[in-house]
Amino acid sequence: MTAAHITVEHLTMAYGDFVIQRDLNFTIGRGEVFIVMGGSGCGKSTLLKHLIGLQQPAKGEVFYDKQNFWSADAEQRLQVMRRIGVLYQSGALFSSLTLAENIALPLGEFTALTKAEIADMVSYKLALVGLAGFEDYYPAEISGGMQKRAGLARAMALDPEILFFDEPSAGLDPVSARLLDDLIISLRDTLGTTIVAVTHELASIFAIGTDSVFLDSDSKTMLATGNPKQLLAESEDPRIIQFLTRGQGRGGR
Ligand SMILES: Nc1ncnc2c1ncn2[C@@H]1O[C@H](COP(=O)(O)OP(=O)(O)O)[C@@H](O)[C@H]1O
Ligand SMILES: [Mg+2]
Repeated sequence: MTAAHITVEHLTMAYGDFVIQRDLNFTIGRGEVFIVMGGSGCGKSTLLKHLIGLQQPAKGEVFYDKQNFWSADAEQRLQVMRRIGVLYQSGALFSSLTLAENIALPLGEFTALTKAEIADMVSYKLALVGLAGFEDYYPAEISGGMQKRAGLARAMALDPEILFFDEPSAGLDPVSARLLDDLIISLRDTLGTTIVAVTHELASIFAIGTDSVFLDSDSKTMLATGNPKQLLAESEDPRIIQFLTRGQGRGGR
């Protein structure tokens, strides 16, 4: 187990009085590819919002290293948020801006880099995601898989220590989804970035996940945390086995 990057303690998440998940406890280690899994509507995206500063816990704590994220003052919380990159399902690029302009946005806003330095940084990030030379393309001119990678380049613009993905391969064909998985792993390996990914794609869960948490919507809490392959091999919980085998059982794969 690597050093803890994020620690979640006794976290309860709710919308108003409606509890989505209660008493979540798990640790995300540095350099892990941590998967948030569970059926549709169990609270995966909601959990991500609690980790990136968009939604406050009803109860419990989120720590970044030793720092209590939600009891810190707003300025300290912003400092932590600047170390985070987020890639949403849609990629969320601005359609009226070129790829270079999209990626330059956070650099212009949050750094003191000159225009020339920003242009260099933009080209470097595009090259990292396999889009060297696509600076002047508009999002509509490239494929869905390339849009996701451009979104990833933007999420990485500020050299985040942690990258969050919500359903990164949603809407992609299997080949593009595989390429995106490979890219996520190579970024982790070359940059040492901690990755937290929401997904229910079994192929991705087993291909890239080194650790995970499994949320259950019926019991409104987590059923397990650990390496997904190990959970599949060793879990005694039929709900986990059902999810990890698409209902086929351990013998069915
Ligand atoms: N803004 C919101 N207000 C009230 N309920 C919400 C809101 N967002 C999501 N929910 C509810 O919270 C539950 C978990 O949603 P979500 O975190 O999006 O699930 P998942 O990402 O696992 O599919 C769902 O029942 C959803 O309807
Ligand atoms: Mg979701």
